[in-house]
Amino acid sequence: MSACDLHEYAMPGVQGINPYQPGKPISALAREIGMDERAIIKLASNENPLGPSTRATEAVSRLLGEQARYPDGGAVELRERLAQHHGCSPAQITIGNGSNDVLDLIARTFLGERRSAVMSEHAFAVYPLSTQAVGATLVVAPAMEWGHNLDAMASAVMEDTRVVWIANPNNPTGTWIDSDALHGFLSQLPQDVVAVVDEAYIEFVDDDNYPDSSLWLDQFPNLIVTRTFSKAYGLAGYRVGYALSSETIADLLNRVRQPFNVNTLAQVAAIAALDDQDHLKQGVELNRDEMRKMEHGLDHLGLEWIPSAGNFISVDLGQPALPLFDAMQKQGVIVRPVGNYGMPNHLRISIGLPEENSRCLQVLTTILREQQ
Ligand SMILES: Cc1ncc(COP(=O)(O)O)c(C=O)c1O
Repeated sequence: MSACDLHEYAMPGVQGINPYQPGKPISALAREIGMDERAIIKLASNENPLGPSTRATEAVSRLLGEQARYPDGGAVELRERLAQHHGCSPAQITIGNGSNDVLDLIARTFLGERRSAVMSEHAFAVYPLSTQAVGATLVVAPAMEWGHNLDAMASAVMEDTRVVWIANPNNPTGTWIDSDALHGFLSQLPQDVVAVVDEAYIEFVDDDNYPDSSLWLDQFPNLIVTRTFSKAYGLAGYRVGYALSSETIADLLNRVRQPFNVNTLAQVAAIAALDDQDHLKQGVELNRDEMRKMEHGLDHLGLEWIPSAGNFISVDLGQPALPLFDAMQKQGVIVRPVGNYGMPNHLRISIGLPEENSRCLQVLTTILREQQ
């Protein structure tokens, strides 16, 4: 039987999935263009350019030789620390192998055939994956000024809708929803629809009107808030994320969770990272300063960009972005084309270290000048 035949036997939802496109690894590009890995700059996956807290790295190093045993499947210590951090009960926390894992758990718990989920145009690429993988229908509401249009999303909610995916801030646009608008939306959402507010970039947001929606968990029993250690905490490679919800929802999510989904080193790293809020602050401040410089640099090039509350910025090149993306890669700078988000003229640039951002701008400047 050929692989093509097997494609037909896959679940229909899986057949329809548009695969997630990860950025090219530095080592692969280094080989491809014959450049030293150290000279390559990757500003493609919204990671923390400062890396993890040294406390996390030291805690992990101490345990490297002791990994014959399974991890604590209940992640008891991590959940207790997170519960302290958020002022909630450990029973309200579900740990995931990155927050992507949590999104999948939500889909497997609440979605399936003859059910639908609503998301916004230009919103995070994993929502369609998680939705379609379980056979549910995805309804995409039109965006407004690149951001979530909550009125359009509310109108898209149907009888069979069980999940609404909301990214706040959103990736790749960096747009965000203010407190009144989000609270209003959640207040009018039917109780039998689960609202997932994905706050992967919350630590970077610097605005009093931005809502920490975890504070509303008591008001909205149908609310799930997702968070991650991959971004501001600098632990993307370890894979730790989590959901905050009612105890009832956490109990359901934990039923479908793989028992050992987060390994010991990742759990230990996350606890140590949580204890090092100074490191987190340092990364957030660096991001704030470098974002301003990046905006200024893009202005200087006469390019339009979408104001971003995250650690990345999407810039409109006014022409198809893929050729420029390729040209930048050939110069050793990896950024992210976002054509798969319905944004074919935009490139998303993660904010890196000062020298990385300058080099990125310099390479972009040279390529644009060569076009003239
Ligand atoms: C909006 C958003 N949510 C969730 C994630 C998932 O991150 P992780 O699985 O590393 O926690 C990302 C990662 O890029 C993201 O941009």
